[in-house]
Amino acid sequence: MKSSPTILPSLLQCDFGNLEKRSVPSKRRGARGFIWTSWTGDSYPIFPMECRLSMLFRKLTDLPLDVHLMIEDPGQYVQAFSDAGADLLTFHVEAVDEVVPILENVQALNMGTGLVLNPGTSLDQVTPYLDRINVVLVMSVDAGFGGQAFNPVALDKLRTLRRMKPDLTLEVDGGVNFETIGRCREAGADLFVVGSAIFGSSDYAVALDRMRSEMQRHDPQMS
Ligand code: DX5
Repeated sequence: MKSSPTILPSLLQCDFGNLEKRSVPSKRRGARGFIWTSWTGDSYPIFPMECRLSMLFRKLTDLPLDVHLMIEDPGQYVQAFSDAGADLLTFHVEAVDEVVPILENVQALNMGTGLVLNPGTSLDQVTPYLDRINVVLVMSVDAGFGGQAFNPVALDKLRTLRRMKPDLTLEVDGGVNFETIGRCREAGADLFVVGSAIFGSSDYAVALDRMRSEMQRHDPQMS
């Protein structure tokens, strides 16, 4: 059963030094989950810190925690993020040679699971697995940094996936803001990962409320 339309504040953009102060207001204003995006880079000692932060964040909220692993070899970190409290764990289809063993490992740990694809990756890479996953996360930017410009190629993928699987939860990430959320909703997205448009605003609650209204205004079921 697909998710109801939900905005997921992306903690990648959050002020980690004030995780509770910065993120909890989103919860009060109706955020129904958060996304924790883990990524690795040459000088980025990802996992000890990432897991500890994720465990800390788990103590701050009982809302669902969606973990997007933007890393090579995500399979070796499934247990760590299960222990850290992830409810949903997604990984990049570009980053693995074999998808199914990781999906099975995530599901064996009672987490929801899904596949992520970057703008340059064809839908053919994920369509063989659509019956085995809970969500497809369609990137409208190349994963790794917030504040990038929205790439409309994501809209075509969302529309195609929605036609193929009416009941699959579709998620979109990258450059989602007041100007783009409506088009994403019309194209079939259910979950909206938002970083800069929330954590870059002076009032998170106002930013969330404005985007939620715009999302609802463009809801295909409402038209
Ligand atoms: C993109 C990350 C997103 C990012 C979104 O690489 O996966 O979580 O934080 O940030 P914005 O909304 O600023 O594009």
